[in-house]
Amino acid sequence: MKILAADIGGTNTKMGICDERGHIDQFKEYPTESDRGGPHVVERLLDQMAAYEEYDAIAISTAGQVNVEEGYIVYANPNIPDYTGMKIRELVENRFHKPVKVENDVNAAALGEAYFGAAQSFQDFLCLTFGTGIGGAIVIHHQIYRGANGVAAEFGHMLTRPLSEMSSSAGKPYYETYASTTALVRMAKQADPECVDGKVLFDKIRTGNDKLQQIVHAWTAEVAVGLASLIHIFNPSAIIVGGGVMEQDELVRLVEVQTKDLIMESFSDVKIVKASLGNKAGLLGAASLFLR
Ligand code: BGC
Ligand code: NA
Repeated sequence: MKILAADIGGTNTKMGICDERGHIDQFKEYPTESDRGGPHVVERLLDQMAAYEEYDAIAISTAGQVNVEEGYIVYANPNIPDYTGMKIRELVENRFHKPVKVENDVNAAALGEAYFGAAQSFQDFLCLTFGTGIGGAIVIHHQIYRGANGVAAEFGHMLTRPLSEMSSSAGKPYYETYASTTALVRMAKQADPECVDGKVLFDKIRTGNDKLQQIVHAWTAEVAVGLASLIHIFNPSAIIVGGGVMEQDELVRLVEVQTKDLIMESFSDVKIVKASLGNKAGLLGAASLFLR
């Protein structure tokens, strides 16, 4: 079976044809242009998909809360304006006349890691991705836990700071406001305006830059605060951390050390594991909705 899979992120969208062995053919990546709004994002998705031929079904992983039964966006935060309510499944079905499934991006990533990647040996684990925002997935006994309305595991919207820190520019003091990659780049840029993205930041650190190194430390501490609370609530065997920034082993080790400093001893055998499928996890996880 061949699945045309797409993964719509706040920054980039990926696409390719996936098979049962977890291979991806004709992979491509393009800017989501989320600032132009949900209808544009979906229009662009349809145009990009039109280039593919010979597949049996379409699987879409996307940022935002998804109603998986009906394949629409229940709610998307302002990272993609006007995305809330978009009936992705219907729009894609009407255009390509194939079976279509839609899933939240991090739920999809967790499924990808569970079937093909770093989570194959865990029954109970959490997955978080650090990017434009922070997404989450809860896997209990190999199943995604969805909650009453199907929108559970919005870990990026945990409150990790007091409301007194609420500002009109940053909004409510959510975890992702302080611990996403967006937050890291914002902090770095304040210290050094040349740090326009994570790549520049880490290149500078590699050639020795104590100030920026301290900023990374402060940021991983924000990451650890959220992980520690999640570990105390779920007692998972593992937390899989993904997103481009977490591809760096040293960073994951730093997060692990800082997290383990914050948790009760009875939880200390939890593993903090780097996602192993990189930016392909969402695609493969979405495809697995048909393949498994
Ligand atoms: C959204 C989540 C999404 C995550 C990662 C968050 O801002 O609320 O639905 O999973 O970003 O893209
Ligand atoms: Na999720």
